[in-house]
Amino acid sequence: MEQAQQQTLKKNLFSAIQPSGNITLGNYVGALRNFVLLHEDYNCLFCVADLHALTLRHDPAELRRNSLSLIALYIACGLDPEKNIIYCQSHVPEHAQLSWVLNCFTYMGELSRMTQFKDKSQKHADNINAGLFTYPVLMAADILLYQTHVVPVGVDQKQHLEICRDIAGRFNGIYGDVFTIPEGYIPKSTAKIMSLADPTRKMSKSDGEDSYVAVLDAPDVIRRKFKRAVTDSEADIRFDPENKPGVSNLLSILAAVRNSTPEAEAQALQGLGYGALKEATAEAVIDTLRPIQERYAELIRDKDALNQILRTNADRAHAIALRTLRKVYKKIGLYQP
Ligand code: TYM
Repeated sequence: MEQAQQQTLKKNLFSAIQPSGNITLGNYVGALRNFVLLHEDYNCLFCVADLHALTLRHDPAELRRNSLSLIALYIACGLDPEKNIIYCQSHVPEHAQLSWVLNCFTYMGELSRMTQFKDKSQKHADNINAGLFTYPVLMAADILLYQTHVVPVGVDQKQHLEICRDIAGRFNGIYGDVFTIPEGYIPKSTAKIMSLADPTRKMSKSDGEDSYVAVLDAPDVIRRKFKRAVTDSEADIRFDPENKPGVSNLLSILAAVRNSTPEAEAQALQGLGYGALKEATAEAVIDTLRPIQERYAELIRDKDALNQILRTNADRAHAIALRTLRKVYKKIGLYQP
């Protein structure tokens, strides 16, 4: 079958990651890895959500560096920029344009219920800006611009996905079927990878260095971080996230990178101590990340090639996004000559 014909038969997939700091094993296992597993079956867009990264105080030079780095990482993980659209959010103006329109279809009440907004306002009490509040609306615009069917994310984004569905449904209810209503893709066992320092909290790039493994960490660093990972005072290895969050988190990571299940990994490690579990997890993670890191090192050296990819892919995204935005503008009565 012709490539173009195949594309029209496939459904659309969209996801994004913020270029705000080191990309963690949580981002990899909860999101990136699923992008790689799914990308052959969908028409995919993978976005660097640089506009979202402005909602917290940031260093401009670092944001610039992290954005290019994330593009290289997407490709290094195996996402081909010719088959998928890999681009930066700020390069496609329709994201901000649709976001404004959707702001006018989103209620203050529903935005105030967002747990991420509540968490982030507590953590950054000196900078509770309006962008932090309307963050989910920009995220809805990202998704809805591309008539997205599927959005692979970790469980922390579930509430944002729900508000996106609500906004789309509300808009469609008034103006007819303008937006596809997206579904989340959130596999249970990897939906929330926990911090190595405090396994009752999510692994997050905004927490201390020892709480997360970064996808680009060197093997020795990875070994050291897993060695220090918090477990518990018992000795048996079993998958029980409620009572043994640290051990279960290691089992989830190990299972994810080995494409098995946490229960099977627990079974295989029976009779061995936590030291063996930590070592097995560290080595499996190192083996998984090695080829990605090698490919990344090659890609990041050739900035011109990455820039070229960014330009072409932004054009491809723009062409799709503009179609949706025009339709929206027409429906809501913005005069177009
Ligand atoms: P971000 O950058 O915080 O995280 C990127 C992706 O990684 C997932 N994730 C995790 N999954 C499992 N365990 C963890 N510890 C963990 N930490 C992060 C996140 O759920 C996410 O899937 N708002 C989004 C970016 C975004 C977006 C979008 C996503 C902007 N527009 C449109 C989907 C669709 C964010 O800040 O993700």
